[in-house]
Amino acid sequence: MNANALVPTNPDDFEKFIARLCQQAGYDVIMPPANTKGYDIEIIKGELCIALQVKNHKAKCNISQIQKFQNYLELPIASRFCSGWFISASGFSKQAITHIETERPTNLELVTCDNHELIWNYPQTAANQAIEDAPLEEIERPLKYIGVFTCKGGVGKTTVAAHLAGAFALMGHDVILVDLDPDKNLRKLFLQDPTDEEGDASLYVPPKTKGQEGATITVLNHDQWDERHYKDTKIVICDCSPVLSENPRSLVARFNYCIIPTTLNPLGIAKHADVITRTFKHIRALNPEAELFAVINSYDTSKDVEKRNEILLSHLKRHIEQYAATDSKCKFIHPDAAKIRYSTALLYWGYHIIEGSKPQLAFREIAGRSYPRTDFLQLAEYLENHTDIDQLREDH
Ligand SMILES: Nc1ncnc2c1ncn2[C@@H]1O[C@H](COP(=O)(O)OP(=O)(O)OP(=O)(O)O)[C@@H](O)[C@H]1O
Ligand SMILES: [Mg+2]
Repeated sequence: MNANALVPTNPDDFEKFIARLCQQAGYDVIMPPANTKGYDIEIIKGELCIALQVKNHKAKCNISQIQKFQNYLELPIASRFCSGWFISASGFSKQAITHIETERPTNLELVTCDNHELIWNYPQTAANQAIEDAPLEEIERPLKYIGVFTCKGGVGKTTVAAHLAGAFALMGHDVILVDLDPDKNLRKLFLQDPTDEEGDASLYVPPKTKGQEGATITVLNHDQWDERHYKDTKIVICDCSPVLSENPRSLVARFNYCIIPTTLNPLGIAKHADVITRTFKHIRALNPEAELFAVINSYDTSKDVEKRNEILLSHLKRHIEQYAATDSKCKFIHPDAAKIRYSTALLYWGYHIIEGSKPQLAFREIAGRSYPRTDFLQLAEYLENHTDIDQLREDH
């Protein structure tokens, strides 16, 4: 039987439910203050002090979430814990189990809560407990939805969605990427095992500074996403299909912001200015509130095109501002504030699929620098400064 059929669907209730199980098994249970990072429940029995990570997701817990918890357990602030239990209502991906069985950590246990029973996936022991369901209640959270959309194909939606997620992860936020494009490029790019298309699609992004927490990017299909089950997630980025009607209306209606990537070239501008305003109109028809930002992708910063770029930019800006006079929530991000430069790293991003290596972002440093990393951090920062996403920063 499916664990989700019997365990409470509200994440808070699932935590309480696990807490009760532990109490019944003779542990003292300490629920940490709200917004505590790294773990959800602390349990103590005699000398044993254990950190519990508790996830009630539809999708199986992935390797990146496990890596993040492992990293947390190594931090000095976690030194009082002799071990950590990662408890999942939906089990673990094959890659997560293989990763743990290969590393064989002595301070981590993986547990599935299935049909009111706790089943130890690693190390393999079993413990059964009877439990009662707790009542469900809705919770309010500062969850932000960012859509990445244009009516035009091939201008960088998938590239921007993935690397904007990477920038937020570098800033310490776990990000869910919802893959709405029927081509499922995002899922392919993040698959831990390229031959398992339904498998674990995720990335663990280590912390910028040693001793801090890293963050995870998890790619889900639309039917796997249920915001009630991801209580630690504050940012959801949706890589949209360029055909607006192929995107679920209910999700487009939830967008707080929408990023509209566009390129800067004469034929493009002649068309794009219209494509951008058409895109604004399309989204507005489904979502009266979202703030819409057009951003330049594949920007060429070389000196010899500087003059022409200036002229193209003022043309594009004028066109968009004319439209924005009728809808003040539509904005053009001038490249001085944020842009994504053309880079070979981004052009060749995805090469890992051909090589058959693990998922990665195009953030690797070349000669001490990474244009994509700088540009996407700048875009994430721009969004923090020009929207209410910065509420998220209070946690850091
Ligand atoms: N800043 C950039 N520099 C260099 N290449 C880029 C950049 N942004 C995107 N590309 C390349 O452009 C191509 C199209 O990008 P991408 O697939 O992200 O577009 P898309 O809008 O998602 O396309 P589709 O409509 O097919 O989903 C890819 O080959 C990608 O590597
Ligand atoms: Mg795409």
